[in-house]
Amino acid sequence: MYSFTRDLRVPVVGAPMAGGTSTPALTSAVSDAGGFGFHGGAYLSPDALRADVRAIRELTDQPFGVNLFVPEQVDVDEEEFAAYRERLAPLAERAGVVLPESVPFTDDAFDAKVDVLIAERVPVVSFTFGLPDRSTVGRLHDAGIAVSSTVTSVDEARIAVDHGVDSLCAQGFAAGGHRATFRIHDADPQVETLDLVRAVAPLGLPVVGAGGVSTSRDVEAILGAGAVAAQIGTLLLRTPEAGTRQAHKDALVDPRFTRTVTTRAYSGRLARGLENNFIRSNDGHAPLAYPQVNTLTGGIRKQSSTDADVINLWAGSGFREARAVSVAEVISGLIPQAPDRFDQ
Ligand SMILES: Cc1cc2nc3c(=O)[nH]c(=O)nc-3n(C[C@H](O)[C@H](O)[C@H](O)COP(=O)(O)O)c2cc1C
Repeated sequence: MYSFTRDLRVPVVGAPMAGGTSTPALTSAVSDAGGFGFHGGAYLSPDALRADVRAIRELTDQPFGVNLFVPEQVDVDEEEFAAYRERLAPLAERAGVVLPESVPFTDDAFDAKVDVLIAERVPVVSFTFGLPDRSTVGRLHDAGIAVSSTVTSVDEARIAVDHGVDSLCAQGFAAGGHRATFRIHDADPQVETLDLVRAVAPLGLPVVGAGGVSTSRDVEAILGAGAVAAQIGTLLLRTPEAGTRQAHKDALVDPRFTRTVTTRAYSGRLARGLENNFIRSNDGHAPLAYPQVNTLTGGIRKQSSTDADVINLWAGSGFREARAVSVAEVISGLIPQAPDRFDQ
């Protein structure tokens, strides 16, 4: 079974980035560079996921992983949902989109995708937004697949350890994209990456620290805090291998965008991205309903894919460090340097 402690050549993990950013080229390039590439499996159909896994295998013989979002069905406040729909109506009209009256809960074909990953013997499967049931962890283990859980607090880490996972991804508050909190109603613990790594490392599992990693010094600091590797997402967004939309790539270097914030406005779940007009107008109004809010805003985002003031620009706080260079260059720049040796 794959081990982050034993098998990593370079202590850098490429974040899974669902929604188009993860591509087979990106995931395989991270693994080829000696790191460990994770592929975002959320939002893909089981068939598309299988095709991506096979495409990654065509591109590299190195190990890689796939990440899935764990579904959580919660009661939706229909009035709040209708009010949010009303709020978005003018924007939808401008985009030429008819917003759905109601959006049913879907589990993103979770079980079928787990079956694909087991059949394809993907070396590592990681979970975000909570944990799968124990029988799923058991089936993955029986197939020789290592299981990882993304956590945002020590409490979540303890639950994951108790659940029998093999490694933890400690996601600090600076991280781009969705917060991994186990339940949608949980307040964000807002723990910084180094503090979280220090707090969960004593639990005994290999820990990968994620959030705000931009330089080899950041990687060194995360390793020094007790992690086996640092995970990068934002730093990969402008690489040619990533499937990031052009408007998103451009916004990362546009002086108009000055900071990142966390918001539920796009999906109902908290996520960190560049602050734009959509967030300024709608933050604080979305009901706590995932994936329903994500689906509700999806049509507008699709029709406005070139408008950085409408689409979600997921990014971590270190977004200014993202460069338009190859994945191999990003990763080689992160390898901690051996201390200088002085010959006497
Ligand atoms: C565009 C984007 C998409 C992301 N999608 C996922 C995802 O599908 N699954 C996941 O576990 N994390 C996802 N994340 C979060 C990353 O796994 C990771 O925690 C984060 O990128 C690390 O912080 P950084 O962005 O500061 O490097 C995403 C992040 C970004 C920027």
